Amino acid sequence: MTAAQFDDAMLSLCLARVSEQAAIACSPLIGRGDEKAADQAAVNAMREELNKLAIKGVVVIGEGERDEAPMLFIGEEVGTGDGPGVDIALDPLEGTTITAKAMPNALTVISMAPRGTMLHAPDVYMDKLAIGPGFPKDVVSLDMSPTERVEALAKAKGCAVSDITVCVLERPRHEDTIAELRAAGAAIYLIGDGDVAGVMHCSDSENTGIDMYMGSGGAPEGVLAAGALKCLGGQIWGRLLFRNDDERGRAAKAGITDLDRIYSRDDMVTDDVIFAATGVTTGSIVAGLKSRSDYMETETLLLRSSTGEVRRLTCQLPVR
Ligand code: FBP
Repeated sequence: MTAAQFDDAMLSLCLARVSEQAAIACSPLIGRGDEKAADQAAVNAMREELNKLAIKGVVVIGEGERDEAPMLFIGEEVGTGDGPGVDIALDPLEGTTITAKAMPNALTVISMAPRGTMLHAPDVYMDKLAIGPGFPKDVVSLDMSPTERVEALAKAKGCAVSDITVCVLERPRHEDTIAELRAAGAAIYLIGDGDVAGVMHCSDSENTGIDMYMGSGGAPEGVLAAGALKCLGGQIWGRLLFRNDDERGRAAKAGITDLDRIYSRDDMVTDDVIFAATGVTTGSIVAGLKSRSDYMETETLLLRSSTGEVRRLTCQLPVR
């Protein structure tokens, strides 16, 4: 596809509307203790908005396999069918639990790229490692131990390991990694959920204080994060993790044959990409929804890799 066909300038504005509507649909469900209802509301709204767009879209990262997700499943065709063929990666509500608990950092997330340019990651875990921009290629790697990674990054940054902060999902499976990193002298920034935002923090370490992201989380979120870093700058690597034959089967269905492959950012998203994230609850990336008497206010981060544009859109949408 030529750049002219993938009109990322126009499509990115369309994408913002999609993520805005998904966020607004979650509003009545913030803090209601019902993760599924919040997710469903976001899915319905995102799908409805996507189907208004003049694209021939295919969901490559979605809500799950066709037999387990009735909407926005992997392979679902979306859009009016008139327009460019595009791959779509989405997470209608990144942080279902945090929305249900009204905690910070829940986002609606969607990205789009020319057809055939995004990794069809199965719904399994991915071991992830990310750093910000400005470092030599492959200064750190998934094959290094946690200690080696922070030492290599500190050396490249010209600082001490004690000046490095690593963002990690707080999970029992990460306890050994956290202990090792602390023993090496690094600081840990723990997050309860939401590793798309976790990875994105690395792109702006001066403001976020986070230099590196490490640990396992959803593979779909890994591809979304790769798209975001392709726009913002920074490197990410991911290796799929399989717990059983069912998960290996999902990889085979997605056309993945090398189960041990390490994917770089540009392996996961090979061409220009656009990315939108709207805040549901306030977090470090964007402000959350603000409900006024006659309108709802949203904040959306809108990114384009072709130009490196980082746009923040505030929108006041009348409540009818
Ligand atoms: P949900 O939006 O489905 O709640 O996912 C949130 C999340 O924290 C992701 O950001 C992350 O990749 C994944 O869950 C980690 O999975 P797990 O909770 O199983 O460790």
